[in-house]
Amino acid sequence: MRRAVYPGSFDPVTFGHLDVIERSLKIVDELIIGVLRNHTKNPLFSVEERVSMLKESTKQFSHVRVESFDGLLVDFAVQSEAAVIVRGLRAITDFEYELLMSQTNSVLNPSVDTVFLTTRLQYAYLSSSTVKEVALMGGDISKFVPEHVMRHVYDKYERKD
Ligand code: PNS
Repeated sequence: MRRAVYPGSFDPVTFGHLDVIERSLKIVDELIIGVLRNHTKNPLFSVEERVSMLKESTKQFSHVRVESFDGLLVDFAVQSEAAVIVRGLRAITDFEYELLMSQTNSVLNPSVDTVFLTTRLQYAYLSSSTVKEVALMGGDISKFVPEHVMRHVYDKYERKD
């Protein structure tokens, strides 16, 4: 049984994340999506809201579990009995941060490895921050996130459609 952890803030989940999830499932038998709880980034959504949006967005996949975690990612991977961490890589700007994070994680626990999936070109520009900024300015985010997520984002910004 090959099990991997796909960690992140998911504030909120985007089509880019969902693409990485779908493609990871071709490589691993089970994917545990880990939503970071104690985040310094001051998220728009509570961890419960982020988990719930991810559960709804991945309900068609039988080998996906969505959980929240606190503390170190490598500890969450060990607790989940996963030897692999999956991360999406969009552009060269992601690379340095991702490299440092994966190297830090492998020093903290050499038995956990990180695998990167390059984001599909159609989502290369997309991030949760972009989604929030466009929504805040009243723009259309239907090409970025599933419809139920779009409604939650607009609700947060009290947009009425
Ligand atoms: O979606 P994000 O915000 O890029 O995800 C970042 C995340 C959650 C993967 C990262 O912040 C993380 O793993 N945090 C847990 C704390 C940790 O393990 N830090 C040491 C590795 S740098």
